[in-house]
Amino acid sequence: MPVADPVDPVGRDPRALGDDLLASPARCPVVHTSGGEVLVTGHTEVVEVATDPRRYSSRASTHLQLPNGLDGADHARYRGLVDAYLAPGVVEKHAADFHRIARAVIGEHDLGGTVDAVQGPGISFAVRAMTAWLGWPGDLEPRLIAWVRENVAATRSGDRDRTAAVAADFDDIIAGVIEPRMADPTAFDDVTARLVHDTSLGRPLEPAEIVSVLRNWTGGDLSSMALCIGVVVAALAADEALQDRLRRGVSEAEFTAVIDELLRLDDPFVSNRRVTTCPVTLGGVEVPAGQRVRIHWTAANRDPEAFGTPDAFDPDANAGHNLVWGIGPHACPGRPLSMLELRAFVTELLAAATVRPSSEAGVRATHPINGWISRPVVLEPR
Ligand code: HEM
Repeated sequence: MPVADPVDPVGRDPRALGDDLLASPARCPVVHTSGGEVLVTGHTEVVEVATDPRRYSSRASTHLQLPNGLDGADHARYRGLVDAYLAPGVVEKHAADFHRIARAVIGEHDLGGTVDAVQGPGISFAVRAMTAWLGWPGDLEPRLIAWVRENVAATRSGDRDRTAAVAADFDDIIAGVIEPRMADPTAFDDVTARLVHDTSLGRPLEPAEIVSVLRNWTGGDLSSMALCIGVVVAALAADEALQDRLRRGVSEAEFTAVIDELLRLDDPFVSNRRVTTCPVTLGGVEVPAGQRVRIHWTAANRDPEAFGTPDAFDPDANAGHNLVWGIGPHACPGRPLSMLELRAFVTELLAAATVRPSSEAGVRATHPINGWISRPVVLEPR
């Protein structure tokens, strides 16, 4: 039965919070938070919200968010623009780059010793792979690594001034890569230049639109990728048989199924926001119009009503309900790129080393981030 009392997700491990809210018999798939949101954790309810943009609008922020802050035809137009950059056949040509970067990053770490999968190779790989994809200069790497760390810390702190400062810093980084491409349309031949001169909407994009699209791509790529690597490497360290299976070489479909399932178990991409356009009843809870609603992917991905035993690793059985990449009109267009990057990283890591657990404890993330902030593992050279 849903509770009316507000819960406070701040400071909690999102995975543990979801497990608590969805445990029987007090199961609460829809709850109010002390911060004034409605938190949706049940799998059925999350799917209901994410697939019904008419009642649950994505216009939940005052900032321009392209395409994620739009609905309906507006969303479809910008989504079409974004999809043209992220389709499997388009990103595939970066595969060799991602493998080269993964080999280099892994080679820079202490094979034979303890390595922090997130703060070490995770962040380095995320930043280098993304800058290579976008065509950004390599000397941005230290600034971007510092930015990823501060972004995670600011998000966890809940301090609005700090998160605003992080956002402003990122806009400054983006402005630095856009300006030279605007100034000389012929000097660059890369994804960023293509976006800067994109006319697929029948006109050039406004500078604010370019910044918004790039912020969305890079925000998804940088922080989420480092956290995904942490979750995947932690799982591999605990399962040498799985390492052997992946090392022997698996099809793309099998690799994808394994990664999707590891991320389902401990989904680092916790939540997205919506706002109700009319009064609704969700999971038995009355929700007024204009209510901020938070879809909790991490919790829904472990809902016992959808997955039976949520901790059981079963890629085939669970694929049909997996929500790591979202569902509905806003489902992640970055999935093929993310999977290509993860495959390159995992393949090169397992070729170079056997991953073993470390005696050093890791640090779990807290709301609104999930996974590992720090996850030491031992990399034994092969
Ligand atoms: C690394 C792991 C990633 C995960 C787990 C992830 C997950 C998600 C999820 C759950 C959504 C749905 C949002 C919603 O319903 O409101 C989403 C949307 C989105 N993602 Fe990702 N994402 C990842 C990486 C990326 C990357 C690398 C990119 C682009 C380079 C990207 C671009 C986007 C965009 C543009 C949207 C909004 C789509 C829309 O509104 O139509 N994501 N992502």
